[in-house]
Amino acid sequence: MVLTGAGMSQESGLRTFRDTGGTWEHYRVEDVATPEAWRADPELVLRFYNERRKDLMKALPNSGHTGLAQLEKYFDVYIITQNVDNLHEQAGSSQVLHLHGELMKVRSTRDPELIYELDHWELNLGDRCELGSQLRPHIVWFGEAVPNFYLAIPIVEEADILVVIGTSMVVYPAAGLVDYARPGTPVYVIDPGEPALGSRKVTLIPKKASEGVQQLIEILTENLDINNEKS
Ligand code: OAD
Repeated sequence: MVLTGAGMSQESGLRTFRDTGGTWEHYRVEDVATPEAWRADPELVLRFYNERRKDLMKALPNSGHTGLAQLEKYFDVYIITQNVDNLHEQAGSSQVLHLHGELMKVRSTRDPELIYELDHWELNLGDRCELGSQLRPHIVWFGEAVPNFYLAIPIVEEADILVVIGTSMVVYPAAGLVDYARPGTPVYVIDPGEPALGSRKVTLIPKKASEGVQQLIEILTENLDINNEKS
């Protein structure tokens, strides 16, 4: 199981949230990423996510993303991501669970089951679902439930190896996922900064995602018989 955060996509040109110069230095969470913000100023919220979508449409997966996709040759890899970009999918990872929603999807404000794929960056006031109600970003805002968390728990409980990449580990419930691992499960953390690891026993790879994932692949495949490559 690989838990990823904004640092995973930093080398693809997408800003993280809490590093120097990060997104939350440019915007206040409560102005753009809460249900209250949506009620108070939907236009600002839409503009914020339109900008994020524009950035994403210019971005490409980095070698960290592609390295994780290649790991599927050897392991049953589940990616649980806090990222709303689709760079894991673009890199070829086949099992990706999004905890905080997806930027390239929008949904009805009347029926949350009505979810649509966007193939362009812009969502505006007046863009409506088939029931006639305003569309909103398919994003989990602060203060909203995280429905996919309950799908993530059994994946972590069954994992033989945990990898955490590019997340400050301060946003819950995502940051608490690692605590569902069986005792003794090895945990690798790839991060050049100082994520909040608490008293967890981990193997820290203090590198950016691209270089860190290459090192991780070397560690994890070192003792594998190359003939054991998954078909
Ligand atoms: P943060 O911005 O909080 O943390 C980014 C982490 O990535 C930090 O630990 C950095 O040290 C690390 N980092 C920076 N560059 C890196 C690189 N090139 N390679 C690897 N690591 C790098 O982002 P998240 O932890 O993802 O939620 O934030 C969690 C949630 O808070 C987000 O999903 C978002 C945000 O508010 C919502 O908007 C709901």
